[in-house]
Amino acid sequence: MMKTPRMLAALVATALFAIAGCGGGGDDSGGTPKAEKATQAKASGNVTWCIGKDTTGAFGTVVDNFNKANPKAKVKLLELPESADDQRRLEIQRLRAKSSECDVLGMDVIWTAEYAAQGWLKDVSDYISQNGDKFIKSTVDTTNYQGKNWAVPFNSNAGFIFYRTDQVQSAPKDWESLYKDAADNNGIVYQGFRYEGLTVDFLELLYSKGGSIVSDDGKKATANSQEVKDVLKFMADGIKDGAAPKAVTTYKEEEARRAFESGNATFMRNWPYAYALDKKSKIGSKFDIATFPGFSGQSGAGVLGGYNLGISAFSKNPSGSLAFIEFATKPDQQQIMATEASLPPVTSATYDSAAVKKAMPFAAELKTAIEQAKPRPVSPVYPQISEAVYNNVYDALQGKASPDEAASKMNDEIQKALETF
Ligand code: GLC
Repeated sequence: MMKTPRMLAALVATALFAIAGCGGGGDDSGGTPKAEKATQAKASGNVTWCIGKDTTGAFGTVVDNFNKANPKAKVKLLELPESADDQRRLEIQRLRAKSSECDVLGMDVIWTAEYAAQGWLKDVSDYISQNGDKFIKSTVDTTNYQGKNWAVPFNSNAGFIFYRTDQVQSAPKDWESLYKDAADNNGIVYQGFRYEGLTVDFLELLYSKGGSIVSDDGKKATANSQEVKDVLKFMADGIKDGAAPKAVTTYKEEEARRAFESGNATFMRNWPYAYALDKKSKIGSKFDIATFPGFSGQSGAGVLGGYNLGISAFSKNPSGSLAFIEFATKPDQQQIMATEASLPPVTSATYDSAAVKKAMPFAAELKTAIEQAKPRPVSPVYPQISEAVYNNVYDALQGKASPDEAASKMNDEIQKALETF
């Protein structure tokens, strides 16, 4: 395979990471991270699956289905908190202690590089090379680090605009008009709390404007730009002008969903999981969803979300873990997750199923959004990069920093993060 500049940068990055002493044993050769290969799948023994809160109930359903179909095995669901940052904190606490408690790790797509570089995962490249063509390519790409696959795609994600059909006729095609309509009606809610969700919401606007936070070779912070300042000003003004309530700075996905369902917002930025739940709420017949608008006359841009399932390097039952992962990522379970919980499937064919199209009338747009969504920067220090983003966006939203100050500080902090490996 040809090495792209990004892959080369990642190679250098991991080598430096190991030299700096934070490589955690993942790589002491300066080459690709070493890991034991996951063994053949055998559905037996106990497996604990650690993943974020089961908001939709879909994870519990998959576990029950597996346990019924595999009497010699028992999967237990260990629910971590709701926010991605808190999930990661609790997972890495266990991984640093070499704990075998979590066999299967539910991993946000942005954690692959870090977990792989640290040596916390089994290598599942063989499984992906045999089964990878069933998945949407962009989802498989998120499991790759330095030419190997460290997890299997489980659910994908792309954000959408939810809007009240009894208050506006449609969702405007540009963010500026959408914010104006929001100010004239009952506002827009999104994920404005200081955590990963805010980084995503900010990047959706920034990518649409053609901006970036890290250079393509992964070496330099690029956040001290006019695009970043413009997006920060746009978001901060949104709160000042009443397009978004001040309370969004306390919202993660679930708070935004609850505000929308209580009738307290005309627009909401959220992930498709909210669709099935919103449908069951009192505004169930009064909303629709639309793909993202563009910013400043440009086309809309999405950020690729989703979760992969990896096998902990410390698992005492890697073969049972692989059997469960295989089960959970097959089209029949993917279809159940899509029809019951509007969780975006990772298997391409699932989008063509009539049942999926009925449960998610936006299935075709969703698949395109997932295929075209931009990934967040790939780096073993991605969490620190993101922290630099959301802390400074948050300060701008709070009016604690001007857009210029926030952009410059974001840039410095991203650069510092990049220099730690
Ligand atoms: C969703 C996405 C994930 C993202 C997170 C941010 O869970 O699937 O990729 O990082 O939201 O809150």
